[in-house]
Amino acid sequence: MLNIGLLGFGVVGQGVYHQVCSRSDLAIRRILVRRSREEIEALAARDIREIVEDDSIHIVVEVMGGLHPAYEYICAALEAGKHVVTANKAVISAYYRELTELAVRKGVALRCTAAAGGGIPWLTTLERCRRMDTIHAIRGIMNGTTNYILDAMHRQGADFDAVLHKAQALGYAEADPAADIDGDDIRRKLVISANIAFGCVVPEEAVPTFGIRTISAADVAAFQAAGFACKLLGSARLTEQGMAARVEPTLVSEHSLEASVPENYNLISYDAALLGRQSFFGQGAGRQPTAANVVQDCLDILQGATGFYIRSMENVTVDNSGVMQRYYVRTPSRDAWLDGLAEETMGPGIITRPVSAGEMLTWARKQAGQDSSTFIAALDA
Ligand code: HSE
Repeated sequence: MLNIGLLGFGVVGQGVYHQVCSRSDLAIRRILVRRSREEIEALAARDIREIVEDDSIHIVVEVMGGLHPAYEYICAALEAGKHVVTANKAVISAYYRELTELAVRKGVALRCTAAAGGGIPWLTTLERCRRMDTIHAIRGIMNGTTNYILDAMHRQGADFDAVLHKAQALGYAEADPAADIDGDDIRRKLVISANIAFGCVVPEEAVPTFGIRTISAADVAAFQAAGFACKLLGSARLTEQGMAARVEPTLVSEHSLEASVPENYNLISYDAALLGRQSFFGQGAGRQPTAANVVQDCLDILQGATGFYIRSMENVTVDNSGVMQRYYVRTPSRDAWLDGLAEETMGPGIITRPVSAGEMLTWARKQAGQDSSTFIAALDA
């Protein structure tokens, strides 16, 4: 039996609490909350020291979200010799090397399976794959909120803002949904996935990211007329220059696996030397699926897991200059660079000839600063 100190009692925290309450091998000993509620009054702690200084607690489960004080609390727990399980992608992505090295040094486990893929056991699958195969690339739909929005826009012709509010009400979106719709949430999940898949440390800020905040119903109608679906994809691939990695709206064939992913589901794939392509589909967000992956991590610790998923931590340079692809671009103020690339029109936008993804994403970021309604999407090769 392992005792848990739970940090946070929000969407995921409540899921963990209820799932653990029905088990005999795990027990919730204390819950750190800002405001207690009757249901958990007997377990409520107001100060992190009540948990990290409690010798009867073996695992600290952090499901508060946000960078601070989550980072400090995780460090305090690891320093105190406790295993840590977290669903917090922001903290793991930003402090990857520090936290994994601290866990290894203290001889305890640090697990974060729920941080990428929600309820899909994606990170543990990467861990298992790389111990006997070589992963070359990862790619997929890694955010439930944006898939929910894009799916509703495609299937129901729904309006962006209305569906975003629905995704928030269903508990899929981050506290600040900007992290979902601007692609930052995917970037964090991509960084953690790439680090584990390739045994490296990808600097989060080096991964260019463009979200779906500005996608319009007219864009979607044009994509559908041309046989495409728009999905917000994260991708990372080893190259001769280091690693090509980015987050961008992508037009996939209406017949592709990605196009058929509904609602808040995720679909994440890897390409490996022996196994070829393997794809994993499932609930990418929401209380019970995410909590289930947190509980699975606790059970892995019960069965003896220590340290992190991998040991290798090579530094890597992100470089998308060698990735050539066509883009859909809609902007009210076209410039000479874009005019030089334009090949044809698609609804309210243009299709470019193949251009380096690095160059296009740099241009798009600058252009969006000047004209906030700009939208781009890569055409899947
Ligand atoms: N906001 C995230 C999503 C939650 O929508 O995918 C799960 O990580």
